[in-house]
Amino acid sequence: MKASVTKGLGQGFVIEDVDLADPIGQEVRVEVRASGLCHSDLSVATFIGGEFPVVLGHEVAGVVTSVGPDVARTRVGDHVVGSLIQFCGACANCLGGRTHICLAPEVTLRTAGQPSRISWNGSPVAQGMGLGGFAQEALIHENQLAVIPDAMPWAPAALIGCGVLTGAGAVLNSARVRHGETVVVIGAGGVGMNGVSGALIAGAEKIVVVDIEDAKLERAKAFGATHVINSRATDPVEAVREITGGGADHVFDFVGARPVTAQGLRMLAKGGGLYLIGVGGSDAGVEVDAITTLTGSHRVQGVYMGSSNLKRDIPFYASLYLQGRMNLDDLVSREIGLGEIDAGYEALKDGSTARVVITDFS
Ligand SMILES: NC(=O)c1ccc[n+]([C@@H]2O[C@H](COP(=O)([O-])OP(=O)(O)OC[C@H]3O[C@@H](n4cnc5c(N)ncnc54)[C@H](O)[C@@H]3O)[C@@H](O)[C@H]2O)c1
Ligand SMILES: [Zn+2]
Ligand SMILES: [Zn+2]
Repeated sequence: MKASVTKGLGQGFVIEDVDLADPIGQEVRVEVRASGLCHSDLSVATFIGGEFPVVLGHEVAGVVTSVGPDVARTRVGDHVVGSLIQFCGACANCLGGRTHICLAPEVTLRTAGQPSRISWNGSPVAQGMGLGGFAQEALIHENQLAVIPDAMPWAPAALIGCGVLTGAGAVLNSARVRHGETVVVIGAGGVGMNGVSGALIAGAEKIVVVDIEDAKLERAKAFGATHVINSRATDPVEAVREITGGGADHVFDFVGARPVTAQGLRMLAKGGGLYLIGVGGSDAGVEVDAITTLTGSHRVQGVYMGSSNLKRDIPFYASLYLQGRMNLDDLVSREIGLGEIDAGYEALKDGSTARVVITDFS
């Protein structure tokens, strides 16, 4: 089968003929129908690194074509969406419903002694995040897959696995925003827009979006932003305090740059929470002043993958989309072929592009 292989740092994405093993244990073979381009894969391919050669791609949707002997809840023909969240289902955190912080995520992968799931010219190829969605087919543990309704279109379905789980989950699961509360979303990118959708679903009264590009702020209105602030033109802290009448109940930082996060902290109302989601660079973080924080009863919380339970949340968002209650269509700016990943990432640099999705695997 064809896969887009990354052979080393800065070497891009190159189509090769690779072999995919047959499913064993709880593995599921998926014919990929859509694969989203997330920034994290580009970061791995350009500066983070890891095992090479590797098939990246972690926003993946497709049809199940075969299953391993121990697969219990996934059948041939099912439409599935993958997620990088790996969970065992048996540790204390999984049993407590917090599968996103599973203590034994490695049980979803093959062990070092087993043959690699993907190989190329007889040598092993790494599989990005247990998924490897930049390929015609993928071999994935069933715990990393959720079944979606057949009616769900492929491109928006793929985006649910990372950007939607993270953005909407931050609001609905991590912060548990309640109706009538005020929400600030800093960073109106592909993930932040799902934060806006989450706030809309939660019934937030005011949804304020902060960005530095007018085109992104304009698009945010289509997702449900009630107020937008260009922080290049306006002091965002003052503007948020004015719009919310003193401060916001929840501030979600999808940017992750020190000055931006510090602004987020100053936007909080008494009892408000700041949520750290974006990582804009290696020095991302925030300094917390104890007196201001304790007198304001503020919270600062790190958010991993929207505290999501993928088996519950992926079908939930697909259902909301099919009911017309969640905007995913405006996230899909462009559809490309498997051989056009480098150009796709280039297109993402343009402010008007939200997400690029591979839908042609021929
Ligand atoms: N915590 C997690 O589990 C998790 C999961 C997925 C993604 N992420 C992270 O979420 C972040 C957002 O991802 P994305 O795909 O939406 O990225 P993106 O590049 O599409 O969006 C970032 C947005 O921030 C805006 N921005 C940049 N600098 C700004 C500033 N100084 N002030 C205000 N806005 C500014 C940009 O204009 C852009 O609209 C990334 O850092 C990504 O790595 C985290
Ligand atoms: Zn991602
Ligand atoms: Zn676990």
